[in-house]
Amino acid sequence: MSTPLDPIATLVEYLRFPSISTQQEHAPQVRACAEWLESLFKKIGLHAIAYPTEGHPIVVAKTIPDPKKKTLFIYGHYDVQPPEPLEEWKSPPFQPHIDTKEERIYARGSSDNKAPTLAHILGVAKTLQEKGSLPVNVIFLIEGEEEIGSPHLDHFLQEHQAELASDVIVISDTGMAPGNLPAITYALRGIAAMEFIVRGPAHDLHSGLFGGAVANPLTVAARLIASLHDENGHILIPGFYDDLQPQEPWERDAAKALEQVSQADQYIKELAGVEELFGETGFSTCERIGARPSVEVNGFGGGYQGTGTKTILPKEAFVKLSFRLVANQNPKIILEQASTYLRNQLPPGVSLDIIFGHYGEACLMNPTSSYGKAAREALKESFGTEPFLLRDGASIPIVAQFKKIFGVDILLIGLANPDCAMHSPNENMLLRNFFNGITLNQILLERLAQ
Ligand code: BES
Ligand code: MN
Repeated sequence: MSTPLDPIATLVEYLRFPSISTQQEHAPQVRACAEWLESLFKKIGLHAIAYPTEGHPIVVAKTIPDPKKKTLFIYGHYDVQPPEPLEEWKSPPFQPHIDTKEERIYARGSSDNKAPTLAHILGVAKTLQEKGSLPVNVIFLIEGEEEIGSPHLDHFLQEHQAELASDVIVISDTGMAPGNLPAITYALRGIAAMEFIVRGPAHDLHSGLFGGAVANPLTVAARLIASLHDENGHILIPGFYDDLQPQEPWERDAAKALEQVSQADQYIKELAGVEELFGETGFSTCERIGARPSVEVNGFGGGYQGTGTKTILPKEAFVKLSFRLVANQNPKIILEQASTYLRNQLPPGVSLDIIFGHYGEACLMNPTSSYGKAAREALKESFGTEPFLLRDGASIPIVAQFKKIFGVDILLIGLANPDCAMHSPNENMLLRNFFNGITLNQILLERLAQ
């Protein structure tokens, strides 16, 4: 490659693809984004292939300067969440907008996960440009289905296991600590999603003629939802906490230290736009997000939704919910336990259909391995302050699979600013994090080589 790539211009190009994995009508643009990545890798001198799958393509790129050197495996995703509601965006989601005062770029996918992925790529490109070769072998795998639970990646990893073998896996699909402080994430929560439909009468009924005589599916659904927690925010599903691995004492101390330095409660209130926080008693906010399991209702509906009144007793109601799990809870067992608990509470005259959604295990990593130390040093050097050790609340289900299949250390060194609004309108990425991220990756290549 002759001229170095301009980081911002390249990022803007990348962000223009509406690579929305969940919407079938966007499949051509998802593919175009994969092909763009493939050609970017080739441009910087890597061997690259966008592999077709039953779903969206998986892009693999490699540079193996010396098979005897350590090999770094870098994972990221180029797919994004749907941008809706569109009217809440201040600039169109796929026309990247740079706010020069805030020093942020606004676009869907900016922080989750395009700019962090690009920081890896540009770090490698810059070192190649400056030094002519890398001190380590690098394998990139950038997938297009993370936001829908990576349905085809597991199979791909099994099939390509030998050629994807590495000494350490690096992922920046996580976030910085509250206050935008540098952090290594050593835990991710697992996820288990389900939907249930409460079915009652054969059709909607007149609520005067039948009200009081027939169980109302919406009322039943509301009671089922309310039965998930007690008044202290503990989850009431029998067996739910049985397999949970308790926190180590140092973890509670680390959470406390972070909360103090970052004023986490105040910070999180502002991010959420709420006056007060809420949740399980006995645990601090960062613990409730990172170290405790939770269940949230993601959607709830049924009955008349139009204007004015309509006096009916609806025939059905639906509820979508998802659990966030911690090590060692098994998502399938949790879904079974939840189903049994819900079914046992049904009043006469209604039935329950339960559909399991995507799920993935929680993951705990060792932050004190030699690779962990190398990552901490690289973070300190590029961001200027000692990184925190963080348990993140969100999920990257494939990480547990990486651990099982490859059995190597995994470093989660996310770049997303906590106020990046990922999955929300006006998603953005702090440019400082993007540029520091490029430096971080350059330093990391050197450190991991040692
Ligand atoms: N990048 C996020 C996960 C993340 C964000 C981890 C911040 C740590 C800190 C990822 O793209 C994501 O949103 N995952 C989904 C998984 C689901 C769709 C299977 C999630 O957590 O909801
Ligand atoms: Mn995401």
